[in-house]
Amino acid sequence: MPGFGRCADSTFKGLLAAEFRGGLLKRTHTCGELRTEQIGQTVTLCGWLDRQRDHKGVLFIDLRDRYGKTQVVFGPETDEAACEVARTLRSEYVIQVTGQVAQRPEETANPKLATGEIELRAEQVTLLNASLTPPVAPSGQELPGEDLRLKYRFLDLRRAEMQETLRLRDALVKGMRDYFAEHDFLDVETPMLGRSTPEGARDYLVPSRVHHGSFYALPQSPQLYKQILMIAGYDRYVQVARCFRDEDLRADRQPEFTQLDMEMSFVDADDVIGMIDGLVARLAKEQLGIEVSLPLPRMTYDEAMQRFGHDAPDLRFGLELVDCTEIAGQTEFRVFRQVADSGGKVRGINVSGAASQFSRKDIDELTDYVKQDFGAKGLAWFKVDEAGQLASPIAKNFEPEVLAQIVDRMQAAPGDLLLFVADRYEVTCRALGGLRTRLAAQLELYDPQAMHFSWVVEFPMFAQDEEGGLAAMHHPFTAPLAEDVELLKTDPLAARAQAYDLVINGSEAGGGTIRIHDNQVQQQVFDLLGIDRETAAERFGFLLDALQYGAPPHGGIALGIDRFVMLFGRLESIRDCIAFPKTQRAADLMTGAPGLVDNKQLQELNIKSLAMPPKAVPPASL
Ligand code: AMO
Ligand code: AMP
Repeated sequence: MPGFGRCADSTFKGLLAAEFRGGLLKRTHTCGELRTEQIGQTVTLCGWLDRQRDHKGVLFIDLRDRYGKTQVVFGPETDEAACEVARTLRSEYVIQVTGQVAQRPEETANPKLATGEIELRAEQVTLLNASLTPPVAPSGQELPGEDLRLKYRFLDLRRAEMQETLRLRDALVKGMRDYFAEHDFLDVETPMLGRSTPEGARDYLVPSRVHHGSFYALPQSPQLYKQILMIAGYDRYVQVARCFRDEDLRADRQPEFTQLDMEMSFVDADDVIGMIDGLVARLAKEQLGIEVSLPLPRMTYDEAMQRFGHDAPDLRFGLELVDCTEIAGQTEFRVFRQVADSGGKVRGINVSGAASQFSRKDIDELTDYVKQDFGAKGLAWFKVDEAGQLASPIAKNFEPEVLAQIVDRMQAAPGDLLLFVADRYEVTCRALGGLRTRLAAQLELYDPQAMHFSWVVEFPMFAQDEEGGLAAMHHPFTAPLAEDVELLKTDPLAARAQAYDLVINGSEAGGGTIRIHDNQVQQQVFDLLGIDRETAAERFGFLLDALQYGAPPHGGIALGIDRFVMLFGRLESIRDCIAFPKTQRAADLMTGAPGLVDNKQLQELNIKSLAMPPKAVPPASL
């Protein structure tokens, strides 16, 4: 073995070159592979020094690679030269060790480690590369701040948790690809440089060097291409597609993310949902060992908003919203009465048994939360006393019979805490929906390992936009329910779509629709959205054209792969599911993207920047 026993830090560079002249250094096993079956064998491992301890002159090194860790021992029987080298090694040095696999003494076996019954008695060691002191310790107990982790992502990715997440991601994507291949889907790539697509977020633009003043848009999704593929007769399309959206980022959103995108012809919503049901059951079984019974439960959008105040309700717990508007209309309590009389809603949740856990101060905090985050005007509350009576500073404003009706309606029992929001329907949904999620987490009302999969269907076609016009709830190519087509003329806000979202643990994990394949209905929807013919022809002319050349009925869905990883891995942040993510300010702290470009590049593109003259890009923070 070249280099054995000779590598001290100072000479290591020269030695390294010499090693490689002798050919590639080979390992016989990975650091996660050795078991008692290999006892007695001479093996060679390569990896990173995870940790070392000197115990009465015996040096123990945990050697790590992405497969696991193996304990290496430099004891009295080890060659002294090898021991000398070993003593110079530091965290994250890359080394190669040859030695004999031995049984660990019983009391030192580590049942938590797959290789915990054996150890490698080192005979030779070669330093393959040294490391500076790592600012992010892959084996550290304490996780450093996220900025540091993202800047030194190559170190952060050495952590077992990150490796496990990327393994899960790989397995989920492979499971998806296999499933769709087995169902005759064809994987077709679609362009990155294209025209603006209709998902409704801001586009990332790429200037054209050839066509001055013109821009490509990076795809927000392959939506239009996949519809074109259906019209082209491809019948079942699938793609693991990168999507780009310049929107405000949150814990579950990235500016570039990945979809499992699919589209099918000659299908209705049930067929698409059924196809995804099968996939979800398979992934849950393969990756989590969970048996999911099919079909997955479905709920309409209206029901979801009424019962849970959210279009992606977390169904791992109850805390359902209860409507008390009718009762509120009978009281003299000004806040409730006014809202009830003016067409608003008074709705509440019963936080069962929680009265004693919430002080005035705690309730004030909840009140601030619904005011600040959801625009509610206040939070009315009652505690149910031992006699079943409602106690609250506002109770004196209520008539006894009204209080009794509230108790009855809310199914209130002694010890319960009742919380109410009076406002427009949408505000009560948002505020109580948010409160529900927050309280369930705080009170640990569900098992964090539990997984709940369901569908929300029949979304409205349109929502009111800020200027009072109509905006597509999903996108403008979404077909209305057959029985609601007439409503497009009379009451478009009441028209429901053939739309479906897959919900996992209160997150929208996927969304899709059956598309309009009739040119006239498409035109009608554009008219309602205020997209005039010229704009429609300009932006989507190719699709409108194609719709006139024998478009089959079709529909599909896109699953958010990053969110799947996040939910299946029970992770808090989407950034932990992506090898090289962006911060909340859309920056890559490792590469420094986005970066300044030199003037020559801008000149070629015929672009002049209005920003201040070039200066160092400030370190982007989260
Ligand atoms: P939609 O816009 O609902 O539909 O996106 C589908 C799924 O993609 C995921 N997702 C995201 N994940 C991470 N970061 C983001 N910024 C982000 N935005 C969306 C979500 C979402 O459910 N073309 C349609 C699909 C179709 O109609 O077939 C589309 O893109 O999990
Ligand atoms: P006020 O009369 O505005 O001081 O409010 C009395 C109580 O009712 C306070 O606890 C407020 O938080 C609550 N409250 C005020 N407005 C609303 C509302 N729109 N919905 C629910 N509670 C409210």
